[in-house]
Amino acid sequence: MFAYNLNKITMHIFNGKANLIAHLSAINTSNSTIGFVPTMGALHEGHLSLMQQSTSENTFTVVSIFVNPTQFNNPDDLLKYPRTLDQDVAKINAFNSSIIVFAPSVNDIYDENVSSDPFDFDGLENQMEGKFRPGHFDGVGTIVKKLFEIVTPTTAYFGEKDFQQLQIVKKMVKKNNLPVIVVGCDIFREANGLAMSSRNERLTAEHREEASFIYKTLLEVREKFSTHTAAQINEWVEEIFTKIPSFELEYFQIADEETLLPLDKKIDTKTYRAFIAVFVNNIRLIDTISLN
Ligand code: PAF
Repeated sequence: MFAYNLNKITMHIFNGKANLIAHLSAINTSNSTIGFVPTMGALHEGHLSLMQQSTSENTFTVVSIFVNPTQFNNPDDLLKYPRTLDQDVAKINAFNSSIIVFAPSVNDIYDENVSSDPFDFDGLENQMEGKFRPGHFDGVGTIVKKLFEIVTPTTAYFGEKDFQQLQIVKKMVKKNNLPVIVVGCDIFREANGLAMSSRNERLTAEHREEASFIYKTLLEVREKFSTHTAAQINEWVEEIFTKIPSFELEYFQIADEETLLPLDKKIDTKTYRAFIAVFVNNIRLIDTISLN
C-alpha cells in the first residue's frame, strides 16, 4: 500500500495483491460487506454510478483499475486502450475517498504467464462479442475470477452495456459456486444518448455526436419490435447503416436475454434484447437495449 499524493490526493491505493489482501483481512469483519467494481480505468460517470451503488450498499468498496491484456484479441486495441490512472484516482478521490483502489501490474496478476484459462459458459460465449472477438470471454473469465479471489467481494457490480459479459460472469459464478452476488446496473448515457464507454474518449467531437445514431437506432428497433419480425428488423438495421460512410456495422442481433441465442420465434414468457457493435472511424462501440 502507498499513500497517493497528486494535488493533495491521499487515499488507499494498492498496486500489489498481497498488500490488498492483508489490508482487507485486517478491516473486514463478519458484519461487514465488500462491494467490488472491476474496471479497466478511463473512468466515466457510468463507472461512478456503479461505485455509488456499491458504496451505498456495502461497508467497504474496492475499485480495480487494470487493463487486462488477455481479453484483447486485437493487439492494436490493447495498445490504444486509454490508460489514465492519475485522472482515475483523482475522480475516485473526489467522488468518495473511502474507496479502496486496486491498480495492479500485469506481472502482479499473471506472474510470468500472461494467458487465459479456457471456460465453458454453456454457449453464451459463442454469440456476438464471442464470435467477433475470439478468446475475449476466456480473458474476461480469467481476470474476473482472479479478481474475485483477491478481493473476496460480497457483491460485484457490472454495467449492462456489456450485457453479454454480465450474463457470462453470472454463469461463471453459478458454475463455480463462487460466493459473490453479481448485480447488473443501468447503462449511463451521454446527453445525446451515446452509451458511456472508455472508448468514447478516442472519438472526435464530430464522431461522438454522430455516434448517437447507434442509440437512436436501438430506440427505433424497440418501437418496431411489437410489429415486425426479427428478420425484418435485422434487414432494416443493416440497410440504414450502409448509408453512413464513417460507420461500419459489425453485428446487430436480437437475442433471448437468458441464452443469448438469436431470436427465431417470439415466446411470450421470454425477454429479448437487441445488441449492436459498430466501428465509428475504426473505434469499436457496443450498445444494447431491452425490448420487452
Ligand atoms: O468491463 C470491463 O471493464 C472489463 O471487461 C472487466 C470486467 C473489468 C474485466 O477486465
